[in-house]
Amino acid sequence: MKTKIICLATIAFITLPVFAHEGVKNDAVKQRMQLMKLIKNTMAEIGAMARGLDPFTEESAANAKQTLLLAAADIEAKFELNETDPLSEGSPAIWENWEDFVEKADDFAFMIEGLETNSAESLAAGLGNIGQSCGSCHKTYRVKK
Ligand code: HEC
Repeated sequence: MKTKIICLATIAFITLPVFAHEGVKNDAVKQRMQLMKLIKNTMAEIGAMARGLDPFTEESAANAKQTLLLAAADIEAKFELNETDPLSEGSPAIWENWEDFVEKADDFAFMIEGLETNSAESLAAGLGNIGQSCGSCHKTYRVKK
């Protein structure tokens, strides 16, 4: 019984860093993290439909695509201010290479535009390209902590 309680407490503690941006003081940083969170969650929804874990509907696929397009279009505005926070994973390179950063955001939007939402198979086929454009931006501009 006692070990069970300790176990649960440990799990609660381990899951804490997932909500790390709760501790972010800089509002601009918090907003751009929330935008990335939205992108990640929407990608997860698409992924679940693509793999048949969640039922596929054209409507929810199209909605998810729309959410991603709006989020991609918002990257430039959310990252424009050269702000930081001890919890930020944003590299100073973003503002040193601002035009390249914006170009990566545009590439990302372009990949999303190409996503076909008419079947689970077409979602699966498009996910790889989108995932690569996340990775290509993160590689240069996100410093994992
Ligand atoms: C144009 C560049 C760019 C693209 C494209 C991009 N990201 Fe990011 N992402 C960043 C940067 C920079 C950060 C770090 C922000 C910070 O901590 O200040 C980040 C942070 C994140 C985080 C952490 C958020 C948090 O709460 O701390 C997640 C999750 C994430 N990105 C997911 C994704 C996924 C999934 C995609 C693609 C579907 C993606 N990103 C596409 C630049 C990008």
